[in-house]
Amino acid sequence: MAPPEFLVDASQSWARLYADSRLVSTGVMYVHLAGLLLGGGAAVAADRETLKAAREPEPVRADHLAFLGTVHGIAITGLAMLAASGAAMLLADLDTFWSANAFWIKMSLIALLLANGLVMRRAEQLARTLPARAWRRLKATSILSLALWFAILLASTILASS
Ligand code: HEM
Repeated sequence: MAPPEFLVDASQSWARLYADSRLVSTGVMYVHLAGLLLGGGAAVAADRETLKAAREPEPVRADHLAFLGTVHGIAITGLAMLAASGAAMLLADLDTFWSANAFWIKMSLIALLLANGLVMRRAEQLARTLPARAWRRLKATSILSLALWFAILLASTILASS
């Protein structure tokens, strides 16, 4: 599948700059990996803590919910860094990535990760009124979040080595 013509035209000068400047390409890759460390690191640590808190009674669960509220901002900042630098790498070699199955699988997994994040946030809000149902959902979304971060990493590794 070929990329849209307007995108190819719009990205030409960026692709030249990216190919010619080691500083630019290294900087973009650094932002991508820093976003992974920040967002993925915070999310994986928080998901593990959620699974532990789900086995505990109150007030451990309430403390954990307060902690979770502080993690989403960090995860979203990391994801924004990943998305901006990822778009820059995509536009630097549009033909290659646009036609790669691994790229579209990776994008679908990222869409699932975002949707799962929304369900997780709603479960946090539900915990005040329906704790049993909310904690079942928090547990399920944490497991799915862990699986998705590692699946996205696998798709990225395949993409980078193809
Ligand atoms: C909208 C979001 C994203 C876009 C558009 C995107 C796009 C890309 C592209 C085009 C590459 C370049 C592959 C190459 O140079 O061969 C790449 C590499 C990579 N991406 Fe992403 N990405 C995104 C999000 C993520 C996320 C969420 C993760 C983490 C789970 C991730 C982890 C990686 C890794 C580890 C690499 C390989 C870096 C290397 O070559 O050493 N990306 N990404």
